[in-house]
Amino acid sequence: MKKINKVVLAYSGGLDTSVILRWLKENYSCEVATFTADLGQEEDFIAVETKAKQQGTSEIFIEDLKEEFVKDYVFPMFRSNPLYEGYYLLGTAIARPLIAKKQIQIAEQISADAVSHGATGKGNDQIRFELGYYYHKPDIEIISPWRIWDMNSRAALVDYADKHNIQIAKDKRGEQPFSIDANVLHSSAEGKVLEDPFLEAPEYVYTRSVSPIDAPNEAEEVVIDFKSGDACAVNGEVMSPFQLLEKLNVLGGKHGVGRIDLVENRFIGMKSRGIYETPGGTILYHAHRAIESITLDKEAAHTKDEVAPKYAKLIYNGLWFSPERDMLQAMIDQTQRNVTGTVRMKIYKGNVMITGRQSPNSLYNSDLATFEDDNIYSQQDAEGFIKLNALRLRNTGKK
Ligand code: ARG
Repeated sequence: MKKINKVVLAYSGGLDTSVILRWLKENYSCEVATFTADLGQEEDFIAVETKAKQQGTSEIFIEDLKEEFVKDYVFPMFRSNPLYEGYYLLGTAIARPLIAKKQIQIAEQISADAVSHGATGKGNDQIRFELGYYYHKPDIEIISPWRIWDMNSRAALVDYADKHNIQIAKDKRGEQPFSIDANVLHSSAEGKVLEDPFLEAPEYVYTRSVSPIDAPNEAEEVVIDFKSGDACAVNGEVMSPFQLLEKLNVLGGKHGVGRIDLVENRFIGMKSRGIYETPGGTILYHAHRAIESITLDKEAAHTKDEVAPKYAKLIYNGLWFSPERDMLQAMIDQTQRNVTGTVRMKIYKGNVMITGRQSPNSLYNSDLATFEDDNIYSQQDAEGFIKLNALRLRNTGKK
């Protein structure tokens, strides 16, 4: 093994990173500093700190990144209406670049020569972390234990944890947990019973939303204000980006909004099944589309919609820090200058139903759209418009 003096480990306190902390010390005889990012996941950070201390970490960094995460990562991404493969709002993918960036900052601050993470050699997160590390420090040493050690399953990790007296968190039922990732935008669960994509996910997998079936029988009205593409108030109350998303999580969670059961294609190539909950993000997604519907020009909106899957894919693939993301972001941001106004909706049993939208920049023109009499549009003009569009059809179609 290469000689390493000090490594900064991205540490959640879960099974994988707890085992890694111990394994790094054993195998490299180096100092291990831990870095835990508070991205709004429901976590007892005191317990995380205690655990890291017990396991002999040399320095502990726990950083509150909640506002930065939502303001500089989640909101810019949501301006694009991002969906990977049509459904996934990228809750995990958008968090990794920020963690990677901060981890490198800490490594520089304490003169560590390496960084490490708990993502497996099969998934997307190893790619997202490591592209982020290399972008910020091209010569960084990366230790990716899952690709090095001979423990090839979560069961092997549990064995290791037992042998070394490492406490591991249990799920609600006192069993070994799923592979979980959570932040203010979403939580995801993979593995265990979810590995059979035909088996319905048991209710205990869900952590931040009620089942739509058990949700209240009355719809709840929600009003969101937008300014230049970003949400800024809920029900008239101005809030910070993080507070706003948290508020929408509470509303959405109560009404069973934003649950998805997905089989997706990982960057590496295999298909994987996950259960995601994105209550606030789902409300935001629909509201943003609604405010764009009256503030964006038709072709600007269509061009943006064409670019959105590409933008979502590059975030999924870990390319947040890349020239092509900067390029697309500049294009998307340019469209958002007039995306200001108010959206009204009702949330009800898993649904987000838009009920109204208004904007000082609205391009909706009732004089043009009306079914009643108007004097600014000549219906006769449509005849020439259709005839010219039909020109080639009449030439190539049935003669
Ligand atoms: N499949 C999702 C993604 O690649 C989530 C990955 C992390 N989630 C987890 N449960 N380990 O973005």
